[in-house]
Amino acid sequence: MIHLTELPLLRGTVEAWRRAGERIVLVPTMGALHRGHLALVDHARTLGDRVIVSIFVNPTQFGPNEDFSRYPRDEKTDLANLQSHDVDAVWIPSVETMYPHGFQTTIDVGDLAKHLCGPFRPGHFSGVATVVTKLVNQVSPDIAIFGEKDFQQLQIIRRVMEDLDIPVAIEGFPTVREHDGLALSSRNRYLSETERAIAPKLYETLQEIAAGARSGEPIDELILSAKDKIKKYGFTDIQYISINNEFNLDKTDKIESHERVFAAAVIGNTRLIDNLFI
Ligand code: PAJ
Repeated sequence: MIHLTELPLLRGTVEAWRRAGERIVLVPTMGALHRGHLALVDHARTLGDRVIVSIFVNPTQFGPNEDFSRYPRDEKTDLANLQSHDVDAVWIPSVETMYPHGFQTTIDVGDLAKHLCGPFRPGHFSGVATVVTKLVNQVSPDIAIFGEKDFQQLQIIRRVMEDLDIPVAIEGFPTVREHDGLALSSRNRYLSETERAIAPKLYETLQEIAAGARSGEPIDELILSAKDKIKKYGFTDIQYISINNEFNLDKTDKIESHERVFAAAVIGNTRLIDNLFI
């Protein structure tokens, strides 16, 4: 596995692959890798000849009161994991490489960022869109893979790539969960033992909403009673629980064929998100 930390070396490596006619798959991450990330990597392996994983904790997608400085970093374990998952190269740029002195261009995401997490994380999706665009331009992969766990992020990235004519295929990958249903997340390691026991209730509640919605129960009532339950379980804040269209992410109360239920809730100092297809 090649470790790349400088842009010219990255470019040289991918150009050589491309000249050899190899299909390149990129998996962007912020490190602190878990089974969910590694499932994306294994899927990447089945889609191309070369798999490259980026590890970059992107400061511009964290708000001023968010967890950038305490975001888990564990490069040694990450590298060992990637090596054992047959990754060809890791791209680990520094903040200065990604955002050199004078950097000032960002992507302004449209309506897709106005829903769900958008209002709670101002600037977040602009930071994500900008860094992913940079990573894709740096690596120029044939395919880039993103998890459905961050469904809004996935749809925004699809839109940005299409709108800016960036020639890459974006692949979504289903959410990988713990045995009790909790979606794997680097942030789960912040949870205390008590909080960890409460956390899977979020997914359980989403499943109840999805089942109720499928059998035609009124959406408003389902959501209200779900919020009530989530509070009783011990979540400290519910940012949103709502049903939205998968493509434009507009809120809806009609179940047709492209709806998902989405939630963001806080336990203690940890913000959890999840979503489920209805
Ligand atoms: P990060 O949170 O490290 O996630 C990297 C990729 O792994 C994302 O596509 C995310 O959706 C996916 N992922 C995380 N947990 C998952 C799970 N339980 N099941 C399936 N996929 C999962 O998302 C980011 O980093 C950043 O915003 C990034 C896209 C790298 C831009 O900085």
